[in-house]
Amino acid sequence: MLLKCPIMLIHNFIVLIIFIFLALPITTVAEPIKVLTQPKNLDKEKVALGRLLFFDKRLSKDNSVSCETCHLLKEGGDDNIKISIGINGRKGIINAPTVYNSGLNFRQFWDGRAPTLEIQALGPVQNPVEMGAFWPDVIAKLQADHVFSQRFIQSYPLGINRQNVTHAIAEFERSLVTTDAPFDRYLNGDASAISEDAKEGYQLFKKYGCVSCHQGAAVGGNMYQVFGVVNSYFKKRGNITEADYGRFGLTANRMDMHSFKVPSLRMVAHTSPYFHDGSVKTLREAVDVMFEFQLGREAPDQDKDKIVSFLKTLAGKHKEFQ
Ligand code: HEC
Ligand code: HEC
Repeated sequence: MLLKCPIMLIHNFIVLIIFIFLALPITTVAEPIKVLTQPKNLDKEKVALGRLLFFDKRLSKDNSVSCETCHLLKEGGDDNIKISIGINGRKGIINAPTVYNSGLNFRQFWDGRAPTLEIQALGPVQNPVEMGAFWPDVIAKLQADHVFSQRFIQSYPLGINRQNVTHAIAEFERSLVTTDAPFDRYLNGDASAISEDAKEGYQLFKKYGCVSCHQGAAVGGNMYQVFGVVNSYFKKRGNITEADYGRFGLTANRMDMHSFKVPSLRMVAHTSPYFHDGSVKTLREAVDVMFEFQLGREAPDQDKDKIVSFLKTLAGKHKEFQ
């Protein structure tokens, strides 16, 4: 007995080590896509003020356009058209991305020219093809609204000014995180949260290398990549405009030609048409384009269909959306 005990102890110890060793890969293999979680530390009242401003048409010159005109929250946070239409029916030059989960982007805009949501929000108000206004006029209109002014000053002691207005809008946008997607429930261990096709689609998304560019909690939004890594998308499409330059438009560096922020795919089931030029209507076609120009490889139709099934599981919920 006395002899057996230490042997048993050693034996148990070895079994334990083997068990930990075997279990390790299962528990610690990091998935390249992470669960989206509710943002913390947001100021509720500032979020509420930002929401009012996001829907406020006084931010445009003739009180006809709000942020929400082009970022329809019930429709997935974009406008569902190829190229956005602003004040007086003026046509923009580029497709509107969704505002959902935009707080997770490492930079804002297709070419990443705005480092923060606050700086991003300065743009549309003065953009002649969007809201066509001047900030001083917008601030004056808002200040003239005494009820709003009074409420605003409770959260921002310096009152209504450009910096505080854009901060409130950004705070609201940071709250636009879509959580509890079927895919997140799957990542959290609910094997029945998504279909078998979607599960295989996720494996294919990793296997083919989509995940090298679309990754993290937002499934994108954390790097720049050239559109047309393998084959020239633009040569095939033709009619190149400034909007197609991507980062080159900012840096004038040839390496940045056609380089864009990799978009988040979280809400992609709801944000057709796709790409910065809005050139493609269905998710299936978008996947074709990615295979041809980003990966330069063929794949059987059924693999692409499964990837589409997977992409559809990425959309979560938000009270503004559904
Ligand atoms: C006329 C339509 C229109 C209006 C109005 C508009 N936007 Fe946009 N928004 C766009 C377009 C188009 C882009 C893409 C522009 C680009 O990348 O060059 C964009 C980009 C964005 C982005 C960047 C998202 C990303 O993934 O990079 C955010 C955030 C955003 N808008 C928020 C706002 C806010 C806040 C307002 C109101 C102050 C607003 N938008 C008003 C059309 C519009
Ligand atoms: C080398 C990087 C890279 C790889 C690999 C890649 N993508 Fe993309 N993806 C991008 C970039 C960049 C864009 C934006 C292109 C544009 O519109 O200018 C994009 C756009 C998309 C869009 C459209 C999103 C929108 O909102 O318009 C979808 C869908 C998509 N990718 C899915 C995939 C799938 C599926 C794969 C694998 C088959 C894949 N991507 C592989 C970089 C990549």
